[in-house]
Amino acid sequence: MLTDSESLSYLAPLARMFGAAAVQLPALLDAYRTGGGVGWAEFGVDMRESQADMNRPWFLHQLAEVLASVPDVDAVLRQPRARIADIGCGAGWSSIALSHAYPESSVEGWDVDAPSIELARANALTAGLTDRLTFSSADASGLGEASYDALFAFECVHDMPRAVEVLAAMRRAVRSSGAVVVMDEAVADTFAPPGDDLEKLMYGFSLFVCLQDGMSSQPSAGTGTVMRVDTLRAYAREASFSDVEVLPTEEFGFWRFYSLLP
Ligand SMILES: C[S@@+](CC[C@H](N)C(=O)[O-])C[C@H]1O[C@@H](n2cnc3c(N)ncnc32)[C@H](O)[C@@H]1O
Repeated sequence: MLTDSESLSYLAPLARMFGAAAVQLPALLDAYRTGGGVGWAEFGVDMRESQADMNRPWFLHQLAEVLASVPDVDAVLRQPRARIADIGCGAGWSSIALSHAYPESSVEGWDVDAPSIELARANALTAGLTDRLTFSSADASGLGEASYDALFAFECVHDMPRAVEVLAAMRRAVRSSGAVVVMDEAVADTFAPPGDDLEKLMYGFSLFVCLQDGMSSQPSAGTGTVMRVDTLRAYAREASFSDVEVLPTEEFGFWRFYSLLP
């Protein structure tokens, strides 16, 4: 849990994440008083890298198995020269995992945070993935007319100030036979006080990190870490998807996978 950075139980990066939030307490307090936020850039390197380190073992050691267990999505990804976008890719570990799992694909990681993209490029280089894996430092609402076979958003929709704009861009960018998959926190369908342990943990992340990040650029939906199925469904419908389906994946840490239907 503390020393094996490849273990699915690895939690040491949480200490660094708490540290990154703790030094921002005055700014967080101010944000709650004024309706502002504290963005990823202000949280800085400790937040960015601890986020990446927390999720890395799951992406590198479990993601391929999870995607292989969903035949429709797996078939799209297995197509020769499948073009995949990884939206809000952070340090790129999910993009690297997708590239390894689907060696005939090309993967493009997108993130609005430039230092995350620098980190992702360095990680891809170390992983020996240079030709089939590229990264763009840009807001994903500007995906443009590109057309992809599959688009993913791993643990980032709830952070986005304007999630509907990004989902709408993903909707426009997916080919008619393609797949759009969101991975986000596996919180309860409705709030039932006092909330289970997962809800409490996620509200903690929300108050100190995600809601603040989402509120740092206005206008903002102010979603926060506790994004329930109905919230995602409402965003997806507003973005011209017909519905959201929870994928029948085995337990994957704190997360749940959703397919956004055309
Ligand atoms: C909590 S981090 C998750 C990063 C990575 N997917 C992971 O699982 O470790 C959320 C990421 O979404 C990115 N992000 C937020 N809004 C975005 C947008 N509009 N376009 C692209 N990236 C965005 C942030 O910069 C941040 O890197």
